[in-house]
Order: sequence, then structure tokens, then C-alpha cells
Amino acid sequence: MAKRKRRSPRPSLVEASHPPVVPGLLSPIRRVPAAIKRPPYALTGQPPPSSSSLVRTPEELSAMRRTGAAAAEILLRAGEAARPGVTTDEIDRLVHELSIEAGGYPSPLNYRGFPKSVCTSVNEVICHGIPDSRPLGDGDIVNIDVTLYREGVHGDTSATFLVGDVAAESIMLVEVTLESLDRAIAALGPGAMVRDIGRAIESHAMKHRLGVVREFIGHGVGTEFHSGLQIPHYHDRRLTIPLEYGTTFTIEPMLTLGSPDAAMWDDEWTAVTIDGSRTAQFEHTLVMGENGAERLTVTESGECAHDLVRAAVVSR
Ligand code: MF3
Ligand code: CO
Ligand code: CO
Repeated sequence: MAKRKRRSPRPSLVEASHPPVVPGLLSPIRRVPAAIKRPPYALTGQPPPSSSSLVRTPEELSAMRRTGAAAAEILLRAGEAARPGVTTDEIDRLVHELSIEAGGYPSPLNYRGFPKSVCTSVNEVICHGIPDSRPLGDGDIVNIDVTLYREGVHGDTSATFLVGDVAAESIMLVEVTLESLDRAIAALGPGAMVRDIGRAIESHAMKHRLGVVREFIGHGVGTEFHSGLQIPHYHDRRLTIPLEYGTTFTIEPMLTLGSPDAAMWDDEWTAVTIDGSRTAQFEHTLVMGENGAERLTVTESGECAHDLVRAAVVSR
């Protein structure tokens, strides 16, 4: 591995320090009506070994457009609900109910034993936060990661929302993280390779002295929640794997104000930055087309929760 220059921590991290997120209480397991079609892992918690092709059939692709749009609608509603005083468990209940209303199954529920229907990752939580009794506080940032399973396919999308009056440095983190996702998507033209994604994200993060998390990556997605394709968000020139026409995958960069290294809570899900610095993430499910990557996790009119965040950022 090439030697990487370590920059000193941002001086403002000390001023911006905030009380750490601590685990809260979990509500009882939520039920899914028998009429809803479940993914293969729903009963046992274990997904079968990855077998599906990375390239979608036309039928699977149209199902992914519909499921992706439904996931985007749910994330929009969840983002509107992310206000000071609202618990992450209340967001879980909302996402659970909206998923069922949409005729789908909330993919996180019992995926490898995950106990809730959505991931909610607050402040220094990088990803896979478990919704609990903690109310969102004024000045928090929260990533809500929605995945919906419907018509035999998954749609996976997330956004980091500003809660109340957020400090300027955290707003910058959220803004640059979203820009890094958009730049990665724009970098994928004809002949695109996996490495183009990490290069676009890492170069943008470096410009703003932000860290790029390496331990969690994007993935192939379709009939399986996570398929064999791996999408790192850091630059690695060896990743010359072509992104073939019809491939469906996610890009979901996690950027940090301080160290990009992760530690795991005892719950074996919640990943936090080792230095407690804040972190943000945005995610889309995409399909590779003739001339570039197309977002599948947008509503029929082409909107998504990322637009809400952009509007919130410019108004501060
Ligand atoms: N949605 C997450 C992703 O982007 C995965 C969550 S797995 C869960 O890949 F079990 F925590 F839900
Ligand atoms: Co994902
Ligand atoms: Co996700």
C-alpha cells in the first residue's frame, strides 16, 4: 500500500466537540403483514450465498425503477420527520409503516440479524446505527438509510439531514459529502471502471481536508441486498473492473471531519469514528447506461431527499 500523508486534525474539532452519542433503548420488534413478500433472509437472518448476476434483465430493471422510486419517497418523508425531539425509533416506525403501505418489506429488518427497519446514524456514527429511544437534538446531523424490497428487488438510498441549528463545520461536511457522491456519478461515462468512483470522491474530500471511510463500501444491489460487486469510495488505481451496461450498484461515500477510522459498538452494528469526529453519508442506487450512470432512487418526477438537504444547506 502506498504511503498516505496524514494531516493534523482540524483545529476546530476541539471547539465543535459535542457529547457523544450513547445507546438508547430498543422498542419491540415490528411485524410485517403476511401478505408482504419477504426477502430470503427475513426468517433466518442469513442471506443465501451471493449468486445473482450483476447485470439486470429488462424486467428486473423496470422493477428496480419502481422500487427505487418508492424508496426515494420514503426517504423524503423520513427526512421531513427528522426534527429536534423526534426519536430515531419514531423514524423507524415511520419507515416501517411507509414500506408496508408501499407494498414492500423494509430490507434492513433481520438482515444478518439487524433488529430494525432502517439505519439511523447520528453525528459520529458512520453507518448502521440502530434506531432507539434517543431524541434528535438541536444541532445533530442524522443519516437515514432506507432500503425497500419490492417486486423481488431492493432499492437502497440514504441522506444526512440537518437537525435544527447545525454548526457551520458540520454543514460543510454534509455539503461536501453530497457533492462527492454527485461527482462520482458524473465521473461515470462510457467505459467507466470501478476506480473512477473512488478517485472522484477522494479527490473532492482531500480538497476540503475531509477523511474517506475505507471500512464500508458501496455494493452491487438488485435481487440481492448486497451482491458480489464491491465499490470502494477511496482511490485505488488497481480497480479496473468495468462497470458494464445494465449493472446495478450503489455509491454511498462516508466522509469525516477527523479520522476516517472506525470502531464498533458492543451491539456489533453501530460503527463510529474512533476520534468521535462527525461523519456524513449519501447513497443512491444506480444503473449503468450507454452514456453514464442513472439514479434509480429518485421519485417519478426525478426528486429525492438530497434536494431537501441542498435547500437546507443554502438557506443557512
Ligand atoms: N443500507 C445499508 C447499505 O447501504 C445496509 C444496511 S444493512 C443493515 O448498504 F442490516 F444494517 F440494515
Ligand atoms: Co448500500
Ligand atoms: Co443503504
